Amino acid sequence: MKEFSVTPWDVKGDIDYDKLIVEFGTQRVTPELLERIKKYAKGDLHVMLRRGLFFSQRDLPWLLDEYDKGNKFYLYTGRGPTGPCHIGHLVPWIFTKWLQDVFDVPLYFQFTDDEKFLFKDMTLEQTHALAYENALDVIALGFDKKKTYLFTDTDYAKTLYPQAIRVAKRITASTIKGAFGFTDTNNIGEFFFTSMQAVPAFLPSVQAGRNIPCLIPMGVDQDPHFRVARDVMPKLGYYKPAAIHSRFIPGLEGMAGKMSASHADTAIWTTDDEKTVEKKIKKYAFSGGRDTIEEHRKLGGDPNVDVAYQWLYMLFEPDDKKIKTIHDDYVSGKLLSGELKMILIEKLNAFLKDHQKKREAARKVVDQFFIKD
Ligand code: TYM
Repeated sequence: MKEFSVTPWDVKGDIDYDKLIVEFGTQRVTPELLERIKKYAKGDLHVMLRRGLFFSQRDLPWLLDEYDKGNKFYLYTGRGPTGPCHIGHLVPWIFTKWLQDVFDVPLYFQFTDDEKFLFKDMTLEQTHALAYENALDVIALGFDKKKTYLFTDTDYAKTLYPQAIRVAKRITASTIKGAFGFTDTNNIGEFFFTSMQAVPAFLPSVQAGRNIPCLIPMGVDQDPHFRVARDVMPKLGYYKPAAIHSRFIPGLEGMAGKMSASHADTAIWTTDDEKTVEKKIKKYAFSGGRDTIEEHRKLGGDPNVDVAYQWLYMLFEPDDKKIKTIHDDYVSGKLLSGELKMILIEKLNAFLKDHQKKREAARKVVDQFFIKD
C-alpha cells in the first residue's frame, strides 16, 4: 500500500478513502443515510450520492433531525482563487446547488483571496481579481440570487475579522501544526488563516442572534479546517458545522491524486475550447485499454483505472443504464479506448458549451451576488 497524504494545500499519493475516514475521524455516508436524503429529494438522489462521490460526512443525520424539527440549515462552501476553475472545483458546487434546490436554503460562498495571497507567490490584487472571475463559474451553475451570498475575505473583512479573532484566540500554534503539518518556517498569516475559513460556519448565527445549523459540502482536502473549527465552535456557543465530503476527480494522468491547478495539461479548465478538450483527452487521459486492438477485443479494458470511464461515471453520464452499457462493453472488449474517449469528449464539450454561455451571461449579474462591508 502506497503512502498518501491529504491536506488543504497538498494531495499526494494513491488515496485510500476508507483509511482517510479513520484518519480524519469522519463518518461514512451509509445506504441508510442515502435512503433518508432520497426522501427529501422526492426519490431522486443526486448522481454524486448514488455513485459514492460524496462518501463521508460529519453530523449530517443531526442536521436532518434539526431540519425535521423546523430548524432549517444554511449551506457554506468556497473557493481559493489561484487561477481559472477546473472541473474538479465544480464538483462540490454542482452538489451544493442541488442541495439548495432540494432543501430551499441559503448559501454563503467564501472566496479566500487572503489565503492565496498568504500561501502562494501571488499579489492580493491578483487573487482578488480572480475571485470575481471564479464567481462567474459559481453563478453559471444556477444558484438562486435571492438566497446566495458571495464574498471575498478582504471585501468583507470588517464583518469577518471580529469573528475570526474570536476563533483565533481559541487555537494554539501546536493545534495548527498538528492539523496542517506546519513548521516554524510557515508565515504567521498561514497560522492565522484557518480562523477566517471558520467564520462563515457560524456568522449567520451571529447575525441572526440565534443558532442556525450549517452544512458544508467540500472536497475532503478542506476537512482539516473544519476539524479545528468544530472544536472551537461550541466554546463560542455555536453548533458544530455539519459536513459532507467528496472524493477527488482525478487528473487526466491517472486515478492517483486529484485534478489540480498545478498540473495544467491534465486538468480541464471551465474555459477550455472544444479542440483543446479533445486534444487533452486524446493525448493525456490514462487508458485502461490494451496495447493492441486485437488484445483489447480478446481481453477487454479495465474501467477502474480508465480516466475517461471514471469521469463519465462520476460526472458526465448520470444515466445508470447508459453507464452500465459503457462499462460492460469496455470490459468485454467491444468498446475501444479511443471510442470511450470520444463519448467523454462529446459529453464534456456539451457541458462546457452550455457552462461557458452561462458563465458569460453571469458577468452582467455578478455584482448582485456579492456582499461587502
Ligand atoms: P479550492 O479553491 O482549492 O477548491 C474549491 C473546492 O473544490 C474542491 N476540489 C475538488 N473536488 C473534487 N475533485 C477535485 N479534483 C478537486 N479539486 C478541488 C475543494 O475541495 C473545494 O471544496 N480554502 C478553500 C476555499 C474555501 C472553502 C470553504 C472550501 C473557503 N471556505 C468552505 C470548502 C468549504 C480552497 O482553497 O478551495
